[in-house]
Amino acid sequence: MADKGPRIFSGIQPTGGLHLGNYLGALRNFVELQATHECIYCVVDLHAITAPHDPSELRQNTYEAVAAFLAAGVDARAHIIFNQARVAAHSELAWVFNCVARYGWLDRMTQFKEKVGKHRAKASVGLWVYPNLMAADILAYKAQKVPVGDDQRQHLELVRDIAQKFNHDFCPKDEPFFPLPEPLILKSGGRVMSLRDGTRKMSKSEPSSMSRILLTDDADAIAQKIRKAKTDALPCPAERDELPQRPEAANLIGIFAALANKPQETVLADYGGKPFSAFKADLAALTISTITPIGAEMARLLGDVTHLEQIMSDGAARAQAIARPIMKKVKELVGFAV
Ligand code: AMP
Ligand code: TRP
Repeated sequence: MADKGPRIFSGIQPTGGLHLGNYLGALRNFVELQATHECIYCVVDLHAITAPHDPSELRQNTYEAVAAFLAAGVDARAHIIFNQARVAAHSELAWVFNCVARYGWLDRMTQFKEKVGKHRAKASVGLWVYPNLMAADILAYKAQKVPVGDDQRQHLELVRDIAQKFNHDFCPKDEPFFPLPEPLILKSGGRVMSLRDGTRKMSKSEPSSMSRILLTDDADAIAQKIRKAKTDALPCPAERDELPQRPEAANLIGIFAALANKPQETVLADYGGKPFSAFKADLAALTISTITPIGAEMARLLGDVTHLEQIMSDGAARAQAIARPIMKKVKELVGFAV
């Protein structure tokens, strides 16, 4: 096989309701990286069961996520798309990493703390060790780079700590086994915030559906959500240094810049001092022209589940072929008599 460049791994959870944050922070980047990397993109269904779920919804959401990869422009022939549960290496290596990662490391994970709040005792143990599974996802393929949104930065640091400790504990000094994977986080679009509160990230779990734009929203829904997006009483900002005190305005400017592939300065110069209504009309048009073709293609693909299943099983077979020799060596290094 021709050298396709450094190997990339990334994952998206099939929890339903993929949104503009997933697109700008992750999917769009996944598509671009295909030209210069060997890409493995995974629908992480094992991660999705760390929270209570409905089995039939999980399956449907898995198809939806595969459809989103394809509709955004991932090439399933040149690269790999599959769902995590089809490749046992993820669970096997995650167990080894449960025994490599230290309790204190996981205790620092802010995403876990944010997710469980005061109800820590009721959280699944899987949610607690979720970052170890993420480490297994990446390292089962010795992936070198991991495109993610900014919210995953801390998890990626933990993955590096796990790789380093495994190498230290089980490998000769001059022969480390795992690479230390690097996050690829976009400056523009890496952190899209809620349309209702510019200090919280846009997320599937926020109760108000007006807080996020879904990839499956139609033009009217997108226009309405942007028209109603929270702003402040002032006109559009003109200078970058106004943005920290104006989180909602900053978020909308950031989304515009990311979608238009322009620096924020250009957007500030174009709209500074103008009323938000004019800016929002242009932002809605830009969002609609980017998102609705993806939504339409997702709907078309979801009409042929057999085709999606075929893509997943083919992708899983190729993923497995990469992971197999790596897992064999892990077992040898750890000392399993297999
Ligand atoms: P998830 O659906 O939580 O598995 O996230 C899938 C990908 O989307 C990850 O790379 C996240 O970092 C990214 N992502 C999720 N929410 C946002 C957001 N609000 N802004 C930017 N990226 C995000
Ligand atoms: N934890 C990531 C998220 O919630 C999803 C994920 C799971 C992932 N495994 C991964 C991302 C491996 C990158 C690499 O967004």
